[in-house]
Amino acid sequence: MLVVLKKDYEEVSREAARMVAGAVRAKPDIVLGLATGGTPLGLYKELVALHRADALDFSCVTSFNLDEYLGLAHAHPQSFHCFMEENFFSQVNLPRERAHIPDGTIRGDYDAYCERYEQSIKSAGGIDLQILGIGRNGHIGFNEPTSSLASRTRLKALSRETVEDNRHVFSSESEMPKCAITMGIGTILESRRVLLLASGRSKAAAVAKAIEGPITSSVSASALQMHPDVTFIIDEEAAYSLTQRDYYRHVLEMTQLFMPERLS
Ligand code: PGA
Repeated sequence: MLVVLKKDYEEVSREAARMVAGAVRAKPDIVLGLATGGTPLGLYKELVALHRADALDFSCVTSFNLDEYLGLAHAHPQSFHCFMEENFFSQVNLPRERAHIPDGTIRGDYDAYCERYEQSIKSAGGIDLQILGIGRNGHIGFNEPTSSLASRTRLKALSRETVEDNRHVFSSESEMPKCAITMGIGTILESRRVLLLASGRSKAAAVAKAIEGPITSSVSASALQMHPDVTFIIDEEAAYSLTQRDYYRHVLEMTQLFMPERLS
């Protein structure tokens, strides 16, 4: 596990974009796992800038988003379909037919739909690089506390904390989603490489539990301790509760010296 400590949100976004751009250049037909939320916004801005100024090419890239709210039309301004369209897909040359987002408008046999989403990830060759944020409650995707660490893509009830975090962006109680379709923790752990981004003091407790706490279904992100290639890119505020910051800096220096490819 690599912990990259950065000063602030801008530095986190730039470093994440540098790594994602490096991965896309190294493997133009890469399969990316994408996340939504406030955290990856800066990363998408940087990638769009690299696409425009530096010809970063997404024309052969395939993507799978982590999750989507159940019951929101694609055009709803708070849907993750809308988020991705606005902040990324409309601004780069990633072909829409290769950009997958769970469909929150489905009705009926959710298990069959989720199984198909899993199958399409497999058919694409599996996810090479998964981008993650982290919730205040330690969730990754919408794998809320007590999610099975072996879970797959499925319908998931949102926790009270997540519903509260969302309250300000929905105009009415009835509009607020109570469930989502999300990749599972088992799905995420199968991606070849994981980048988790975190910024701000509100994430400090979750980040510390994920990196230094016990592996537990109470903190979904702690499952990443079992992944062989995960990098946390976090700012000073999000790193606030970590007890071994000096050691992480030392590990990073040694990695730069002996295994620079891990950071490219
Ligand atoms: P945020 O959400 O980036 O909007 O803070 C992260 C998450 O809940 O996974």
